[in-house]
Amino acid sequence: MNEHDLLNLTYSTYPQAVTEASRLLTERSLDQSLPQPFYNDPHMFRMDMEQVFHKEWIFVGMSSEVPAKGDYFTVEIGQNPILVVRDGDGAVQAFHNVCRHRGSKICTKHRGKVANLVCPYHQWTYDLKGNLLYAGAEMGDEFEIKSHNLKPTHCRTAGGFIFISLAQGEAPDLAPFLESLASYMEPYDMENTKIAVESSLIEEANWKLVIENNRECYHCASSHPELLNSLLEWDDTNDPRASDEFIEHYQRQAQAWDAEDIPHQHVEHGLRNRIVRMPLKEGTEVMTIDGKQGCSKLLGRIKNRQLGSMRILHLPNSWNHMQSDHVVVFRVLPISAQKTLVTTKWLVHKDAVEGVDYDPERLRAVWDATNDQDRELAEQNQRGINSIGYQPGPYSKTYEFGVINFIDWYSQTVRNNTSQERI
Ligand code: FES
Ligand SMILES: [Fe+2]
Repeated sequence: MNEHDLLNLTYSTYPQAVTEASRLLTERSLDQSLPQPFYNDPHMFRMDMEQVFHKEWIFVGMSSEVPAKGDYFTVEIGQNPILVVRDGDGAVQAFHNVCRHRGSKICTKHRGKVANLVCPYHQWTYDLKGNLLYAGAEMGDEFEIKSHNLKPTHCRTAGGFIFISLAQGEAPDLAPFLESLASYMEPYDMENTKIAVESSLIEEANWKLVIENNRECYHCASSHPELLNSLLEWDDTNDPRASDEFIEHYQRQAQAWDAEDIPHQHVEHGLRNRIVRMPLKEGTEVMTIDGKQGCSKLLGRIKNRQLGSMRILHLPNSWNHMQSDHVVVFRVLPISAQKTLVTTKWLVHKDAVEGVDYDPERLRAVWDATNDQDRELAEQNQRGINSIGYQPGPYSKTYEFGVINFIDWYSQTVRNNTSQERI
């Protein structure tokens, strides 16, 4: 623990923090922000990692990032290095990126291509399914090669998204969401996309503040001029902000979606997942500064540039915007109690040529600006919450229903997972 962490240590031990968290979550006033320790106490942060990020399904990346055999990328879930690789049968596999010899990290780069997975320390060599192929004569005749395969993590893919779970034993049921995702993503043919731009941002804020900020657009009018050139601030026709004009616009869009057989009924899987297709502002096509095309090649079987944006929410760590000529995916990974990594990727058709079909600067401009504005908001939120003057405040039931849903999901998940652990 560093000096900064010690300043925020509300509880002297980890078990004490977990017991207190359970009590606070049981007694909390619904529709209010959480008590301070949930946002800055290092023991509470450890609880979030152990009870949420080590047990739930985490969005890690897109399957088109590993298009061919041997392509891999790496990611860290807290202190756990993970390796995601395409095997020889075309399946995406995920492993703990930890050698079964003495535990060295195996793949040290962010991404790459390999024939086999070779540990840099003593060259133990694994195939792309994690089987140990070679450990050298140094290990002697008694050595059982078959008992030293890489440890897999749960891994599922659908509609181009890759999710992993570090759960020991069974992972939560993701199948119904994956089914919806596969059918809603079908028009985009994500296997035939590529990353055009990727950005990483470290926010000096607890991961929950980053997600809370994303789950409402109450702050949009005062903070996001670039985004509001194309985005409508609400994601439901029932929203109190939805005017008659908007509802007519929505109905015209729904006819266009139906004409192209584009699914658009709202889907929810508990509080964890939400898929919503909404029109963008009248006359705009995608989330660029002027609302006009981001890439000349449309995705998949899409023919209409004005399809609006399909938003996909996955708790605890992702939101996404699917548009006609590019998609933007967001991944949130906690680093410490007050530090969070936000990675944004813009994907286009795999045959689109940079400088011809798209300009990366034009593609990224709106969300670069928006991410930075949101970073500033989350960091200021964190600074205020760290004060002795902070006390939980009320959420708007209409404008901030997404935040209420997130905090309810978090609260239920932590309480369920910690109580199961005690059994
Ligand atoms: S730690 Fe990997 S080969 Fe020794
Ligand atoms: Fe925002």
